[in-house]
Amino acid sequence: MLKDQYPYYLANKPVQANAELEVTDKYRGQVATRVALADAQALDQAIAAAEAATPAMAALKPYQRREVLEHCVSRFRARFDELAESLCIEAGKPIKDAEGEVTRLIETFRVAAAETERDIGAVVPLANAARAAAYEGMYKRVPIGPCAFISPFNFPLNLAAHKVAPAIAAGCPFVLKPASRTPIGALIIGETLAETDLPEGAFSILPMTRKAADALVEDDRLKLLSFTGSDTVGWELKARAGKKKVVMELGGNAACIIDETWDDLDDAVARLIIGAFYQSGQSCIGVQRVLIHRSRYEAVRDRFVEAASQLKAGDPSDRETFIGPMISEGEAERLHGWIQEAEAAGGRILCGGGRDGAMLQATLMENVDDDQRLVTEEAFGPAAVLSSFDDFDEALAAVNNSRFGLQAGVFTQDLYRMQRAWDHLDVGGVIIGDVPSWRTDQMPYGGVKDSGLGREGLRFAIDDMSEIRLLAIRTP
Ligand code: SIN
Repeated sequence: MLKDQYPYYLANKPVQANAELEVTDKYRGQVATRVALADAQALDQAIAAAEAATPAMAALKPYQRREVLEHCVSRFRARFDELAESLCIEAGKPIKDAEGEVTRLIETFRVAAAETERDIGAVVPLANAARAAAYEGMYKRVPIGPCAFISPFNFPLNLAAHKVAPAIAAGCPFVLKPASRTPIGALIIGETLAETDLPEGAFSILPMTRKAADALVEDDRLKLLSFTGSDTVGWELKARAGKKKVVMELGGNAACIIDETWDDLDDAVARLIIGAFYQSGQSCIGVQRVLIHRSRYEAVRDRFVEAASQLKAGDPSDRETFIGPMISEGEAERLHGWIQEAEAAGGRILCGGGRDGAMLQATLMENVDDDQRLVTEEAFGPAAVLSSFDDFDEALAAVNNSRFGLQAGVFTQDLYRMQRAWDHLDVGGVIIGDVPSWRTDQMPYGGVKDSGLGREGLRFAIDDMSEIRLLAIRTP
């Protein structure tokens, strides 16, 4: 059950400045709760507070950072059902997917807590020539300073956690703008952090309009911008980010190859169903392009279509539901338009293709031209396109024929093909024996090409949120 109203968090404190932001139940379409909306002035105060908190955050000892993160872990465990229910309402996420996300949220904070105890420096031999013979060196990592975070609607908890938890582990204050359509998860993280002894000003969590958030991107007091969202918005933000370090997790049109060495087709199809359709395909690594060896094409296609046709769609709070609503009717309409466009150009709908409001059916198509938006753009919904190939290298080239490069999946049992995929696929991660949609939270995660810059995954994010500081010692 959601509360009637939620405050924002400004310099660690809840502020119920107003209740201007309406958050809807994405399945029922009604207002579910109201949230305080921050303005540019509140953001300015938050940035000033973060700047002032920088020395105190940097001075926190590893055990103190760990204690904050461990507090979050235990509170999220205690509030598991409430968190899952809030995701189900604000994002329309089927309850089983919502529970999966809360499990990952806990894991993300748990791994961040463990990272506080990691070795963060090294001794560097400097005496590599006569002129440096008297020198020894070492380096450590120091926090980069106040960070700006913008998190997306599709994982309201865990993708906010991928910014917040490493910031605490690294010792950086931060200002987070959660997605306006799904701010509740981040605000509950704020409520949890407000229970800790983090230094005053260490965090602000401010739902805002894009316009009010300009300073989050442009203000030079902030030293790093970490954004997760669409590629169009991401690259535009980067161009305005000034001297900040920028990390961006953007979109994709993820591909999955199934070659003729993969015998267990039921297993591959079971994984494809999850990869293409969990949380209605609203994941940057949702399966969008499926490339199947010609000798297996019909067998995989027929099983995949049969399984997709049986997925139960409807109320996300029903434990049997697999397909819930998309985030908005407008988004469902957009993707439905791309499906119709692809069909008009000669594509064949194998299953699905229908829409009722924000509910889009699980849709599979074949014979879709490579230049269709359903192939070239990020679908971000429950739709995938099947095609066949004869030669493995041709399939690798087809995967690379994209402006995106986030993750790719390859079902093969051939060790040398695995190696070729790893060497030649132009993506941030190659997943063998599974769909591209697989992610565990400590692994390096991010993309190349239009899919982004930098890597998340706790250790990698902590590295981004810190700077190397060298110490060189001369012994005369
Ligand atoms: C994303 O949609 O970028 C994240 C996917 C995930 O964390 O599983």
